[in-house]
Amino acid sequence: MHLTRLALTDFRSYASADLTLEAGVTTLIGPNGEGKTNLAEAIGYVATLGSHRVATDTPLVRQGAERAIVRSAIASGRGNALIEIEINPGRANRVRLNRTPLPRAREILGVLRTVLFAPEDLSLVKGDPGERRRFLDDLLVATAPRYAAVRSDYERIVRQRTALLKSAGARVSRGGRVAASSVSTASAAAPSGGPPSARSGTGSAASAIAATLDAWDDQLARVGTELVAGRLSLVRALRPHVEAAYAAVQPGARAEAIDAAAREPITAAGYGAAFIHRTGHGIGLESHEDPYIVAGNAEPLSPGMAFSIEPGIYPGPNGARIEDIVVCTENGAERLNNVTRDLILVDAG
Ligand SMILES: Nc1ncnc2c1ncn2[C@@H]1O[C@H](COP(=O)(O)OP(=O)(O)OP(=O)(O)O)[C@@H](O)[C@H]1O
Ligand SMILES: [Mg+2]
Repeated sequence: MHLTRLALTDFRSYASADLTLEAGVTTLIGPNGEGKTNLAEAIGYVATLGSHRVATDTPLVRQGAERAIVRSAIASGRGNALIEIEINPGRANRVRLNRTPLPRAREILGVLRTVLFAPEDLSLVKGDPGERRRFLDDLLVATAPRYAAVRSDYERIVRQRTALLKSAGARVSRGGRVAASSVSTASAAAPSGGPPSARSGTGSAASAIAATLDAWDDQLARVGTELVAGRLSLVRALRPHVEAAYAAVQPGARAEAIDAAAREPITAAGYGAAFIHRTGHGIGLESHEDPYIVAGNAEPLSPGMAFSIEPGIYPGPNGARIEDIVVCTENGAERLNNVTRDLILVDAG
């Protein structure tokens, strides 16, 4: 897939721009604030109908202009495509594919596929654990939408439990001493279905607070467990594909058979449509080269070939995969990387 042309009207800093892109690597060089990232953002918009920097469309339209237009030409194995997107903040965007208006903008997704790596992405590795949890949770919700409710329940419980702790403050001791003035706040904050004494405010002030907190603790543990179990199952769901591909490697096996072996468990697990790229590629003098581990490649593997096994699940703009670099030996595959593939839960207690 090759983006051959990008033309902008009133997008970010560009009143107009017209870029022809050759095959291979393009490097954009210019002073700070010149508009390099704006171009990458425009390309990303064609691929995802969203910006990697902002949540709404308004900042994408050049100041003083009403709408932005992004035009792009894409050459791929499926032929040439011309995508035109009119970005109308606050109103529906208009999208045309090969000059034909599309009823729904989303139909454009998948015509151009991009991988974006931005400096902000490093925070996934360097940043707080909370960012990694958020990434996993985004992925979880994208693969299993019911987790949207679990996640918002969890966030609500944490918020309300924190509010209770703050309002009761130092006056609460889990052993039971509390000032009477904190009872009403604590009672009002009781979770639905909480203990009657906590809701009615009867009994001592101390036991009302403690009971309310106990009820929140119960909910926090219950919903939190569900969320953690979801994260674990997601990470575990990534493993069988790698293992299956790994087991299929042997001299004489066709490259496409390795791809099929990885694809089968992903498809069986219901994520087939989210496995959007080939299983792997050769590793040698360049980064991507023969043997391509992909459907349609009947090339037989032979000892000494080194290649990646990287089946993944990409339900939306984010995705995840476990990746191995392996060498085909006389006896099968030998892994060159052996770091654990398990999600490591750190005991915060
Ligand atoms: N909606 C907008 N209207 C007009 N100008 C905008 C708009 N949004 C951003 N800009 C301008 O775009 C410029 C930033 O462009 P961009 O982020 O692409 O810079 P860059 O070349 O990537 O810079 P750096 O090297 O610092 O990363 C700024 O000058 C900013 O004022
Ligand atoms: Mg930049």
